[in-house]
Order: sequence, then structure tokens, then C-alpha cells
Amino acid sequence: MLFLLCASLAARDGRSDSDARHLSLFRDLILNRMYNYHAGLEDGSKWPPNAEALSMAGQRRLDHFSAMVAAAVESDVTGHVIETGVWRGGSSFMAAKTLELLGPRAQGRRTYLADSFRGIPSTDRSRVKAIEQQARVKAARGMVGVFEWIWPFGKPAVDPITVDMTAQDLEILNDNSAARVREDAARLRLDASRLRFVVGYFNESLPKLLQSKPDLTFAVVRLDGDTFLSTYDALDQLYPRLSPGGFLIVDDYLGWSSCRHAIDTYRREHGITERIVAVPHKQGEGWAGVYWRKHDPQRKEQLPVCVGAPTGSLRPADGLYAPPRPYSKLDAAAHTISGVAGLAKCVPRMPTA
Ligand SMILES: C[S@@+](CC[C@H](N)C(=O)[O-])C[C@H]1O[C@@H](n2cnc3c(N)ncnc32)[C@H](O)[C@@H]1O
Repeated sequence: MLFLLCASLAARDGRSDSDARHLSLFRDLILNRMYNYHAGLEDGSKWPPNAEALSMAGQRRLDHFSAMVAAAVESDVTGHVIETGVWRGGSSFMAAKTLELLGPRAQGRRTYLADSFRGIPSTDRSRVKAIEQQARVKAARGMVGVFEWIWPFGKPAVDPITVDMTAQDLEILNDNSAARVREDAARLRLDASRLRFVVGYFNESLPKLLQSKPDLTFAVVRLDGDTFLSTYDALDQLYPRLSPGGFLIVDDYLGWSSCRHAIDTYRREHGITERIVAVPHKQGEGWAGVYWRKHDPQRKEQLPVCVGAPTGSLRPADGLYAPPRPYSKLDAAAHTISGVAGLAKCVPRMPTA
């Protein structure tokens, strides 16, 4: 009898409860937490102190990425997962592991890892200006745009080009290679047949990928290229391929003003109105990431926007996981987080017994 009880508990959702432990151990491996724990690992506010860590995103954003992937698959959003700005692969590995653990439901879904694997290209001032100008002209077709044309609301407080100049010299980003990331994926026993490396600068590599695969779509797109052009180029290429109901995640919206300016510019240019939601953190932590869920006009029932923790057996079982409960309802109020106004938050709700 006891055996039957244990077996039925273990088989909840058709998967083993050990999947959750597996996923949290996998994440701790990526963060190198066992050997080098420090508080900044949770919110990603401190970069990895040594060469061993495979991600600088921190636990909250890694867990959240995994939750987005699981939620997209569980609500049958079509397509694969892509991260633009992979560095040593940690976040993408988390997505790949989540897809593997989701079993038959995620079969055939792949993780695309797009990066130069040698750092950020130098900033092209004239392209930034041209994009800003083009966005203003396109937005001017609507009423908001007419006002913006006269008084550009969208002007960032900090010059995006100046901010981005520092990014090119980040030695930690340059000290990398695609071979190293492939080796780490193999060491972690990830299924290589479900990983695709897209090597090169986004403005060349992404158009090439999409032209060679006209039917390629994504259920989750995660942007982590930091700068204005790296963010804008990736979004511009990939947003048309994000399936309705899919998630668009921006790792640096709250932490990098030029990344935020790129997102705001693209959204204004294309009339995107889905609410921007902050990736959940604990009080007092450094908040950095945001996301929105692309509207799906074909669905009768609206898909949930708040997916703070992987549902079912993929929710990591350890006590350090935050948020500790599923976030279910979008807070109607507009919040100011890290000095950025107008963001939505998800309201935690206790799971019903
Ligand atoms: C902050 S790191 C990514 C961190 C990673 N997602 C993680 O979890 O640790 C930014 C990465 O974006 C890449 N990158 C930035 N701009 C790029 C561009 N235009 N083309 C290709 N790679 C780019 C850099 O090479 C770097 O590896």
C-alpha cells in the first residue's frame, strides 16, 4: 500500500518528482553554487567570481526562464526556444534541460544559442540614430507618434551610445568561444541533437538563420545582448517569428538603459501594447529582467501572463527557490521598479490544497 502511495505521488503529472530536484541541482551546477556561494548569485547582481560559473543571470532569472519554457509548452504554444546573448551557455542550458524534462510534450523542440562567442561588436552611432529616426517616422502614423514627432517622449535620460561604449571592453564577455560552450553542454549531458548554435553577430547571423528556415518559429525568445543595437537587431528579426501566446523575455530592461531604450523604441514603432511584467524577485533584491506574453487573438480563453514558478512537478523543490508560490494574477497597478515606471507585477497566490 505504502509502495503504491509513493509511486502515485512520484508519478504526479505523468512525470517524476525527481525532475524538480534534477532541475534545481542542474541550475546550481550552472551557478557553481555548491563551491562558490554568495548572495549575488540569487538575483544575479554580482557576476560570477570565477571561471567556473556558466551564467551571470542569477537564480531568479534562470528559474523564471525555465518557468516560461514550461508554461509555453504546457499551453501548446508552437515553436522552439532561442536566446540571443548566451555567453557561456548557462541560461540556454537551463531551457534545454527544461525541454528534456518535459518529455514527450516538448519532443522536437530545440534550443537555439545565438552569440558571437567573442563579445559585443562596436557601437555604430549612425545606425542607432537611423533606427531612432525610422521608429519616430513609423510611430508618427498614429496619434501618439504625431505628438512624439513634436516632443520626443521616448528620449532616454542617458545617451544609449555612451552607455554601450563600455560594453565592448568587458573582458569577461570576450573570454569565450563556441567550442567551450559546446564542451560544457556535452559535460552536462545535454542532448546535442536538440541544440543549435547560431554563431556570429546578430545583424548577420539571425537574418541568415531565418532566411534558411522560413517556417522556423519560437515559443520563447530571450534577449540578453545588453546594448541598444544587439537588443534591437535581435527583437527586430525574431519578434515576427514569436508565436502568439509566446514569451518575449528581456534580461537587462531594468539594468541597462540603452537595452530598455531599444525595447521601448521597437514597441512604439510596432504598436506593441502587451504589458511589460517584471521577473519576480524578493523584496530588496536587484530586479533586472522583464517579459511580456504575445497576445493570441485565436484563443477563446486568455493565457495566463504570470508564470512565476514552473507548474507541477518541474517546480524546484528546494527552499531557496523564489518566488515560493505560483504567481497567478497580474496586478492592475503600474509599479516603479529600479526607477522604471509603468511595470506590471504578478500577485502571489497560495496554491489551493
Ligand atoms: C550578458 S552576456 C549573456 C549572458 C548569458 N545569457 C548568461 O546567462 O550568462 C551577453 C552576450 O551577448 C553577446 N552579444 C552581444 N551583442 C551581440 C551581437 N550583436 N551579436 C552576437 N553576440 C552578441 C556577447 O558575446 C555576450 O556573450
